[in-house]
Amino acid sequence: MVEVQEIIARGAESIIYKTKFFGIEAVVKERIPKGYRHPEIDFELRKARTKAEARLMHASRCAGVSVPVILDVDEFKIVMEYIPSPNLKTQIAKMNAGARDNILEELGRVIARIHSNDIVHGDLTTSNMLVYEGKLYLIDFSLGAKTRSTEAKGVDLHLLREAFLSAHAEVFEKFEIVVDSYSKHYSRAPEVIEKMREIELRGRGHAREQRGGK
Ligand SMILES: Nc1ncnc2c1ncn2[C@@H]1O[C@H](COP(=O)(O)OP(=O)(O)O)[C@@H](O)[C@H]1O
Ligand SMILES: [Mg+2]
Repeated sequence: MVEVQEIIARGAESIIYKTKFFGIEAVVKERIPKGYRHPEIDFELRKARTKAEARLMHASRCAGVSVPVILDVDEFKIVMEYIPSPNLKTQIAKMNAGARDNILEELGRVIARIHSNDIVHGDLTTSNMLVYEGKLYLIDFSLGAKTRSTEAKGVDLHLLREAFLSAHAEVFEKFEIVVDSYSKHYSRAPEVIEKMREIELRGRGHAREQRGGK
């Protein structure tokens, strides 16, 4: 049994809380029951998603990306190392320009590493990144997948770009640092970047249609 010490976050699917695991400061991501789902389906879904997320965290670590160390996994819980730092979303504006640019360069390398290993994250926003002692940790693989798909990788970059546009408009031009570094570290980067642009244009076309074709 793990003891809930302090709730850090509540998501749509899970709660994140602090605990001690054999004396180590740890975080538990626990998938909570959803009343609107059939109980058996709910049980199986939560089990499958917990397992899938733990697998992707492990695969990313093997690919050379920092993720919290997994301490234990059971049906609905991942117990992992506690990274004592707020997420990048809340930190980025407070960082000095040099440290920020280093982290963005590292972010490009990290995305290149996972994509080279056919891992897509599925929810690349700055809320799902932690920076501690100059190191970038990727978290929350709950929407991730193992796939070779250029489209899925393009969506990863597109979502990050959108996150920069909405949450970090003041540093939006710095998104280029991420893309440049991604290109340096991944041989198939040009086609993924092309896909990202295509997805963006599709989105714009859609917006134009909604305005009545103007
Ligand atoms: N290992 C960890 N160490 C410290 N904080 C964490 C850790 N894992 C998650 N968090 C915090 O909890 C928040 C939500 O976790 P996340 O895995 O993104 O859950 P959700 O799927 O609900 O978005 C993160 O934005 C981060 O601030
Ligand atoms: Mg998250």
